[in-house]
Amino acid sequence: METGKLFNGTGMESIWKSYSSGSGFPALDGDTTTDVAIIGGGITGITTALLLKEAGYNVVVAESYSVGGGSTGSSTGNLYIAVEEGFDTIKSKYNADTLNTVLSARRDAMELVAQNVSQFGLDCDFRRQTWYLYAANEENIDKVKGEFKAALQAGAPAEEVLPGELPFPVVTGFRIGGQANFNPLRYVQQLAQAIHDEKCRIYEQTAVIAVDDEDEKIKKVRTHKGTIHARYVVHATHTPKGVFLDFHSLLGTYREYGVAVKLASGSYPEGIMWGYYERNERYSARSYEHNGEKYLMVIGQTHEVGQKEDNNENIAHLEKFLREHFDVEAVTNTWGGQNYKPADGLPYIGRKRKGSDVFVATGFSTDGLTYGTLSAIIIRDLITGNENDYTRLFDATRHNPLKAAGKFIKENAINAAVTFKDYVLFKDAEIADIPTGEGRVVEVDGKKVAVYNEASGNVKACSAVCTHMGCLVHWNSAEKTWDCPCHASRFSTDGDVIEGPAFTPLEKLQVR
Ligand SMILES: Cc1cc2nc3c(=O)[nH]c(=O)nc-3n(C[C@H](O)[C@H](O)[C@H](O)COP(=O)(O)OP(=O)(O)OC[C@H]3O[C@@H](n4cnc5c(N)ncnc54)[C@H](O)[C@@H]3O)c2cc1C
Ligand code: FES
Repeated sequence: METGKLFNGTGMESIWKSYSSGSGFPALDGDTTTDVAIIGGGITGITTALLLKEAGYNVVVAESYSVGGGSTGSSTGNLYIAVEEGFDTIKSKYNADTLNTVLSARRDAMELVAQNVSQFGLDCDFRRQTWYLYAANEENIDKVKGEFKAALQAGAPAEEVLPGELPFPVVTGFRIGGQANFNPLRYVQQLAQAIHDEKCRIYEQTAVIAVDDEDEKIKKVRTHKGTIHARYVVHATHTPKGVFLDFHSLLGTYREYGVAVKLASGSYPEGIMWGYYERNERYSARSYEHNGEKYLMVIGQTHEVGQKEDNNENIAHLEKFLREHFDVEAVTNTWGGQNYKPADGLPYIGRKRKGSDVFVATGFSTDGLTYGTLSAIIIRDLITGNENDYTRLFDATRHNPLKAAGKFIKENAINAAVTFKDYVLFKDAEIADIPTGEGRVVEVDGKKVAVYNEASGNVKACSAVCTHMGCLVHWNSAEKTWDCPCHASRFSTDGDVIEGPAFTPLEKLQVR
């Protein structure tokens, strides 16, 4: 089956893209009308389409590139009730009851994935696994012990890790059984195939370029290939598209990296293994098997989007980590992925403002396969008029300045700083001085220009001014993209939008 364009990036491909089962949906062809327009075909958009179709609504999904090719296809593919933010953090910011509700919501979402796998017969290597959290050194003992205590208090079936249970040095650790992992790309592609019919239309290579949602009854979701008229609109785009200052100022934006390897021994550890190392650095490791081919992967080395001078070193670090602990035979895949952290520890899922029929689902941190699935449950419940504990707890219009306090101020300070920070500008440099395969922001005739010196010697140039809200983009050397440090829009060297809130490509320019 035709795989289509998975993403408009650079050739660094996740392990999942090597085992994509393809999607091959057509592009939208002319104007159309539906009950619900869903922007984005990741796990959030496709699961929302499934649940609303089951609830009797007509649905149209518009996906810029290919189903699952966004963050879903760059994730680690783990499903668990734990939260990256930490059990203890949620309990301290809120209370034990709230932590309980979060865990129960995440369990429901995880089990919905399991149910879909079995109901639709999805061939996505879904396996039950044990989740582990451990401290690899003395520095993180208190943190992990605090997490263990909070997990037990919230009623999670947590147990202490036994000596030698993990293939890493463990000073202290605990486990929770009954979690799961899978190939997230095959899951979402095959789920899309299973639900696709005349009531649930899915379009690929169909980027939404504007949403006109002023009319209370009929919204217009515009693409270059036609306009979708809909009563309800769902931004299932990982971060809402366009200018949503309420949300964008509440989100910390991060990239992290994955490296997958083959091991000479052929012996691959099982489990979802989260470990804390020096300087609070957390690594997540798991293995993957498809048709007898096995891999081990590690994810980590987080940094703020557009704020790293050389991110090749992040990938090198992950490879070093794997080589230190395992007999690595070959590196098979390296990739990057994006996540959005909420200011108050919980994702924002629901109406964009009270009474609105436009929905958002964002702030998932690195827990969004489960939170994206939960978003589908919540958005279905809101559209069908079923207010409940989950719709209230994750309400996207909530404002929790007290719970956000430290983080809120930090994220905004970063955003303010990078808005006005000019990365080194090569004012007088010859464009020919830019190394082959690299990009630089150059000042040409007073204009900030993002110049990429292609391997072939051709130069591609775009305006360096982000089309979202005007910050300057920054070169991402490992992924060969232009990344905006303000709200994490990312652009290809041709200027096309890859991800983030921007709708419009960078302006293409001619340079001498
Ligand atoms: C390295 C890494 C590892 C992770 N590991 C895990 C994990 O193990 N478990 C877990 O639960 N979570 C994990 N996450 C988080 C998880 O991957 C994401 O939160 C989740 O995939 C988000 O799904 P989504 O459908 O909301 O977004 P996406 O999968 O990004 O889908 C959004 C889609 O919207 C499309 N889109 C964007 N703009 C437009 C437009 N204008 N028009 C049309 N379509 C558009 C995009 O092309 C994309 O396909 C990880 C994240 C990272 C970065
Ligand atoms: S992403 Fe908001 S200004 Fe660039």
